[in-house]
Amino acid sequence: MHILISGGAGFIGSNLAEYHLNKGDQVHVVDDLSTGSRANVIPFEDNPSYRFDEADVLTWPGLKESAAWSDRIYHLAAVVGVFKVLAEPIKTLATNVAACERVLRAAHSGRWNPQIVLASTSEVYGTGVHCRVGETIACRDIDPDSIPPFQEDMEPLVGSSAISRWNYSISKLTDEAFGVSYAKVHRMKVIVTRFFNTVGPRQTGRYGMVVPRFVRQAVAGEPLTVYGDGAQRRCFCDVRDTVSALDALATGGSGWGQIVNVGHDQEVSILGLAELVKKLASSSSPIIFIPRHEAYSEDFQETVRRRPDLERFNRLAGGFQYRWNLERTLLDLIARERQKQPVPSQGGTNGH
Ligand SMILES: NC(=O)c1ccc[n+]([C@@H]2O[C@H](COP(=O)([O-])OP(=O)(O)OC[C@H]3O[C@@H](n4cnc5c(N)ncnc54)[C@H](O)[C@@H]3O)[C@@H](O)[C@H]2O)c1
Repeated sequence: MHILISGGAGFIGSNLAEYHLNKGDQVHVVDDLSTGSRANVIPFEDNPSYRFDEADVLTWPGLKESAAWSDRIYHLAAVVGVFKVLAEPIKTLATNVAACERVLRAAHSGRWNPQIVLASTSEVYGTGVHCRVGETIACRDIDPDSIPPFQEDMEPLVGSSAISRWNYSISKLTDEAFGVSYAKVHRMKVIVTRFFNTVGPRQTGRYGMVVPRFVRQAVAGEPLTVYGDGAQRRCFCDVRDTVSALDALATGGSGWGQIVNVGHDQEVSILGLAELVKKLASSSSPIIFIPRHEAYSEDFQETVRRRPDLERFNRLAGGFQYRWNLERTLLDLIARERQKQPVPSQGGTNGH
C-alpha cells in the first residue's frame, strides 16, 4: 500500500510510519518538524520504501501529487500539547483547521479515492460537565463517577471560545465536521478517530504530556510533579496498539463517514499513575502537587474523568486485541529512559 502520513515525524506519526514500513508498505512522511523531530524518523531513512519531505502542510507544493499517489492518508499534523496550545492560540486554530481542509481537498481533487484517517482527540468531549466561563473545575467538587465514559454521539461539552485552552478542541471539532462533510458530500472514505491519551516510545514531555514527564522525573530521582490534586482520571493506550487499531479501522472499511473513539479503557488517577511510575521504577522521588494555575499560568478547566466508550471501536475494528497494558508500557518506557539518562554517580566517589 502507498501511505501518506502528515505529521509523520511526530510521536504517533513516527510509530505509524514504522508500523507500515514493517508491513512492507511504501511510506511518505510530510512534517514541518515544529514538534516532531528528524531523530524520530532517522531509523527509516535508509529504507527505500520511505520518503520524507520537510514542509508545512498548509503550503506544501507536493500535497496534491502525494495525495494522488496514496491508497491511504493519515492526517496527524497539528499544533498539539497543552503548553503549546496556550502559548499559540491563533496558530492552533489556523493550522489545525486549514491543514485538515487542505488535505481533504487535495484528496478529493485526485482521480483516486484514497482512504483518509483523520486524527481527532478526546479533548472534543470537553470537561464532560456544564460550567460557566472562568469557572475552574476542581476535582474535589465533582465526583468522577458522575461523568460517564465518553460516547461518540454525546453532545460535546467543550468550554467557551473565550478561553484559549479550548482552541485545540474547537479546531479538532471543526476538522471532524470537515471530515464527515467530505465523506457525505463527496462520498469519500474518511474516518474520524478520536484518540484518548496515547503513550509510548518517542513521546516527549516538553509540551505538557504527563507520562514521559513522570518517567523522566522518577528515573532522574527528581520530584514527580502532579498538576492539581491528582484525582483526575485518565485511560492510557500504548501507541503500538493505537497504530494497529488505526490500521484495523481503515482495513475493516465499515466506518467511513463515522467518528470513532480510539484508546484503552484501563483507568487510573493521575496521582495513582505517579505512584505506579515510582513503584515500577523503584524510585524514591517524592510526589509534589503544583496548582493548575501555576502549571499552566492560567485558570485551567480540567476534565475530571476521561474514559472512552469502546463499543463502536470494537464493532468497527472487528475483535481488536490489545498487546499492551499500562504497567507493561511503563516498564518499557522506564527501561528506555534509563538508557538515555546517565547513571547517577554514587555518593563519595570522587575519582580517587
Ligand atoms: N498523543 C496523544 O495522546 C494524542 C491524543 C489525542 C489526539 N492526538 C492527535 O494525534 C496527532 C499526533 O499527535 P502526537 O501526539 O503524535 O503529537 P506530535 O506533536 O508528536 O505530532 C504532530 C506532528 O505534526 C507536525 N506538524 C505540526 N504542524 C504541522 C504543519 N503545519 N505541517 C506539517 N507538520 C506539522 C509536528 O512537527 C509533529 O511532528 C495530532 O493530530 C494530535 O492532535 C494525540
